[in-house]
Amino acid sequence: DIDFNLRPSSLENYIGQEQIKKNLRVFIQAALERGESLDHVLLYGPPGLGKTTLANIIANEMGVNIKTTSGPAIEKPGDLAAILTKLQPNDILFIDEIHRLSRVIEEILYPAMEDFSLDIVIGSGPQARSIRLDLPEFTLVGATTKAGSLTSPLRDRFGVINRLQFYNEDELTKIIMRAAKVLQVGIEKAGAKEIALRSRGTPRIANRFLKRVRDFAQIEGDGIITANLAQSSLERLNVDQLGLDRIDRKILMTIIDNFDGGPVGLSTLAASINEEEETIEDVYEPYLLQLGYLNRTPRGRKVTKMAYNHFNIEVDK
Ligand code: ADE
Repeated sequence: DIDFNLRPSSLENYIGQEQIKKNLRVFIQAALERGESLDHVLLYGPPGLGKTTLANIIANEMGVNIKTTSGPAIEKPGDLAAILTKLQPNDILFIDEIHRLSRVIEEILYPAMEDFSLDIVIGSGPQARSIRLDLPEFTLVGATTKAGSLTSPLRDRFGVINRLQFYNEDELTKIIMRAAKVLQVGIEKAGAKEIALRSRGTPRIANRFLKRVRDFAQIEGDGIITANLAQSSLERLNVDQLGLDRIDRKILMTIIDNFDGGPVGLSTLAASINEEEETIEDVYEPYLLQLGYLNRTPRGRKVTKMAYNHFNIEVDK
């Protein structure tokens, strides 16, 4: 049976992250048998690997509602209080970009996570008093690309901590075949593999490429995604053999050309290519590190010999 949605809604239809799935199955079943809420879950890892999808799957498998928000969206204590007091027992509260919560909000969250209680201050100045409200038991699912920037008291309050991994070629091929079925586009396995090879280990990228390749197949091909069609379409999207895009290449080439291969500090690099430091660090670097094209050293970023080879440039030092 297939979910008629690009995002799978059950663990069974979620491809990859095998160890995480296996463990979650146990924790979910145990909580269900005890009639309790699932312990709080932290999901971290590079963008596009399926953190939001997993949060929704957890809610589905638990048979509860999910309320979705994000760190920067919760500005005032009242915003959080409004969300928490509306939850039903065992519901999921999903906070994306949880590392961007303010300190004030974090401190309200601690007793909520630990004792399901909400301490709120009413009034201000000498008249201010604090009251304590009981909350229903709930599960906080937090997602972040930067586990390192979570404060330790927050991190310590998650009972389940999962790091999502990049997907291998075989898993991405399966994800693309499944997505093609959902999108009702004909695809050969070799076509799916061509897309998978260039998707930087990331389902979000694979699905985006699939949609664009589908457009080429529809308008300029015969509607079927073959290996050849996938290859030529991706070339026209400026995606190279490894799936590196213009910005990945710019990062590597700037370090090679302007900084003699590095090391160069992140802020200097960001200024030279006119990108945000955070985007470079969270979006682009993880896959370049995984490929072995880039290293983070105490003195800054360095490209590796493999990167020089990729661009057919001699290492001249
Ligand atoms: N779509 C995006 N991520 C997926 C995954 N892990 N499995 C199946 N389909 C997906």
